[in-house]
Amino acid sequence: MKSFDGRMIYITGGSSGIGLEMGKIFAARGADLLLLARNSSKLEEAALSMEKCRLSPKQKIGTLSVDVADHADVGKKMSMALEKYGAPDILVSSAGINKYADHFENITYDMFDEVMKINLYGTRDMIHTLLPAMKKKKGHVVILSSAAGLFGMFGYTAYGTSKAALLGLADSLRYELKPLGMKVTVVCPPEVDTPMNLDEAKTLPKEGRAVKSMAGMMSPQFAARVIVKAIAREQYLFIPGALTRFLYLMHRLSNGRGTRMTSDAVIWMVRKKMGK
Ligand SMILES: NC(=O)c1ccc[n+]([C@@H]2O[C@H](COP(=O)([O-])OP(=O)(O)OC[C@H]3O[C@@H](n4cnc5c(N)ncnc54)[C@H](OP(=O)(O)O)[C@@H]3O)[C@@H](O)[C@H]2O)c1
Repeated sequence: MKSFDGRMIYITGGSSGIGLEMGKIFAARGADLLLLARNSSKLEEAALSMEKCRLSPKQKIGTLSVDVADHADVGKKMSMALEKYGAPDILVSSAGINKYADHFENITYDMFDEVMKINLYGTRDMIHTLLPAMKKKKGHVVILSSAAGLFGMFGYTAYGTSKAALLGLADSLRYELKPLGMKVTVVCPPEVDTPMNLDEAKTLPKEGRAVKSMAGMMSPQFAARVIVKAIAREQYLFIPGALTRFLYLMHRLSNGRGTRMTSDAVIWMVRKKMGK
């Protein structure tokens, strides 16, 4: 696989799940890393695990606590980061939450707002703040959207909306950054076995669980490995997993009808079993 030797990579959400596993792979390929998330002790633990994977002790592996949903905090912390670590060659925006996967009527304005602030505005803010510095390096922006941004899902009015919006952001941003020699990759994984799903499981309705299971589940190690490969080949839209790619192809070919018919049937069966 391509070497990332000497590349500076910032990873939001680098302390857990997909971001953590991507960091280990980047470290093993020679990159310098800056891991960003809110919880400092988890960041330190993640950095230690990446130090064990790095090729050389000269590789920098730094951490910085930041709340991507806090506009002022992002501005302040990113100027500190640029001064200490230099501009990123690659920015991976993996920070995200999937709380409040529930019936739309149970999702309050504040819950919806929290999901948007972290998943959408947090990604927007990180890119916008780092863009002037990244332009000089012809950098690469990587956005973690989701299969839930490609397909509607029962219980996903908040999370799915934020992830679909990220696809819109990526699509427009790509046109603006390409003439500058910059790259954009947007990634749409199906379910990945990470701590995020523990949050989701607290509220996800049975109908949503059943529909989601159709696309299968992958390990964070596998997801990270194939995402890093897609970044290395500078692919724009990347959908990890052959099954998800097949479902997306069917979705496009049937203009969404195939997905709606299958999901409606699964939801009908689950509700019948529940006596609804
Ligand atoms: N897991 C899946 O099934 C799946 C599927 C498709 C797409 N994705 C997407 O992949 C990305 C990574 O998900 P994951 O499964 O790896 O999740 P995860 O294991 O729960 O990790 C989420 C990371 O984001 C950080 N984070 C959350 N809120 C933040 C905030 N306000 N500011 C800064 N950092 C924040 C967390 O650290 P702190 O809490 O310490 O801040 C953590 O490092 C997400 O964008 C997710 O939507 C996940």
